[in-house]
Amino acid sequence: MIEFFLNGQRQRVAAAPDTSVLELLRGPVSHCGTKEGCASGDCGACTVAIASPEDDRQPLVYRTVNACITPAHQLQGTHLITVEGLARGDALHPSQASMVACHGSQCGFCTPGIVMSLFALHEQQRATPAPRKPLDDHRLEAALGGNLCRCTGYRPIRDAALSMGERPDTRPPWADDPELEREIRHLAPLAGSKNQNSKSQARYLTPSTLADLIDTMQRHPDARLVAGATDLWLEVTQRLEHFETLIDLRQVKELRQIEETADGWWIGAAVTYREWEPLLAEHYPAFAHLLTRLGSAQIRNRGTVGGNIANASPIGDTPPVLLTLDATLRLAGPEGVRELPLASFFLDYKQTALEPGECVAAIYLPKPQADLEQRVWKLSKRREDDISTLLGAFRWRLKDGVLADVRVAYGGMAAIPLRVTAIEAALEGKKPDAETFDAARQALRESLTPMSDARGSCDYRLTAAANLLERWRLTLANTDSTTPTQEVALDAYAH
Ligand SMILES: Cc1cc2nc3c(=O)[nH]c(=O)nc-3n(C[C@H](O)[C@H](O)[C@H](O)COP(=O)(O)OP(=O)(O)OC[C@H]3O[C@@H](n4cnc5c(N)ncnc54)[C@H](O)[C@@H]3O)c2cc1C
Ligand code: FES
Ligand code: FES
Repeated sequence: MIEFFLNGQRQRVAAAPDTSVLELLRGPVSHCGTKEGCASGDCGACTVAIASPEDDRQPLVYRTVNACITPAHQLQGTHLITVEGLARGDALHPSQASMVACHGSQCGFCTPGIVMSLFALHEQQRATPAPRKPLDDHRLEAALGGNLCRCTGYRPIRDAALSMGERPDTRPPWADDPELEREIRHLAPLAGSKNQNSKSQARYLTPSTLADLIDTMQRHPDARLVAGATDLWLEVTQRLEHFETLIDLRQVKELRQIEETADGWWIGAAVTYREWEPLLAEHYPAFAHLLTRLGSAQIRNRGTVGGNIANASPIGDTPPVLLTLDATLRLAGPEGVRELPLASFFLDYKQTALEPGECVAAIYLPKPQADLEQRVWKLSKRREDDISTLLGAFRWRLKDGVLADVRVAYGGMAAIPLRVTAIEAALEGKKPDAETFDAARQALRESLTPMSDARGSCDYRLTAAANLLERWRLTLANTDSTTPTQEVALDAYAH
């Protein structure tokens, strides 16, 4: 049984392990306002908001997710808000009233999802202590980047977003219930690792400690692990796979914590992108900037770096960056815990060094050193919510006018994300001049034969990867005057 609150009302529902929140809503729970567009996390039509005491201790924060790829069992102990739960009688929530006033809807298919993203944005703005900064394009794009509209056009939707603050601040009825938050907190944590569907052998298991997780994995060797589900669930919705047994990582306390050491941080594998953001913004701005290009707010609210690494996609965004930072993994299994440099983790296409019964427990991110610099450039067909065609990550220091401690890693250039040591060797100890970078480009062409696919041909990828080296040289020569904001635009249209 999954116990949660839906628009202030307590629910108790049984569901198979591979049921999505969207299926639950449009099926047994009969809330059909939430729509299915793509069923793959791309269009945002299914956007709902979830407040989870596991994610935010105090106060609860309503965060957007894609209902089509969120496991229904992850609703346990949370408060789910759908488009049906915003109005107070005939009085619309500012997110709805603004969409009406600004003609932000035509066919209406995308509208519930857009309203939910606006709702989360409005609530965020409302919770910000005065004086509040007015909404700017950057925040609007961050909030709405995961919502597509095929017919209205984005101008009226943007106008609706910008004018929410001018509408009467109607609160949903559930927002007035002082007992609700206490009752939601009372439901958490999850029922434990014995959450079994009584009618079948199907199980949704929720271990709460690393030891419990390893034991659960041993008892269920065929089970799949699920963290944010933003990769895994596409196997259900796109490949029509059926999962008998799932082991949820989101309740494993060791996987959800960030532990600071003298030299760095061990970041639990199930820490979400959103939870990484403050640390990266403070210490690794180029990495933090990349996160603004990784998926959408809905994806970043759920997706984890552990999932990005374990999924071992050649176009995952974080592995190349982490490779240049000499990140290490903590792997846990029946034989105990071991550490492995990330550079030794990826073996071949979608093959990793994980032994049977092992999982990624944490990622070690070293603290930045003052004179080490980093650049990360992602090329994709669309700026928001798009997977990389290729990504280049570069790290170096300048010592007495020559390059030192050089790291170069690419995604999308081979079957795995990889450091290109031949390029590093061409640059190490050399002056960052045109001749050095010519040699680096030559090393690139000799080392890599990237794939051709729908995102880009082999030629395109080689040319673009070489151009990123040139861009790096221009950065070093101080003639690349792009600001971070302009870089976003350049990244977007470079394809
Ligand atoms: C619309 C959309 C946009 C996206 N955009 C991007 C993007 O721009 N860049 C990008 O890199 N990715 C993108 N992704 C892919 C995805 O969001 C990321 O790869 C994400 O980091 C996966 O994390 P997760 O927690 O959701 O993993 P899950 O889907 O829960 O798991 C992924 C895989 O890893 C396994 N796994 C998860 N955690 C562990 C662990 N700790 N140990 C061992 N195995 C584990 C699971 O069993 C599964 O096989 C996008 C996905 C969608 C749907
Ligand atoms: S239906 Fe398109 S994101 Fe869920
Ligand atoms: S109003 Fe039709 S898709 Fe947005």
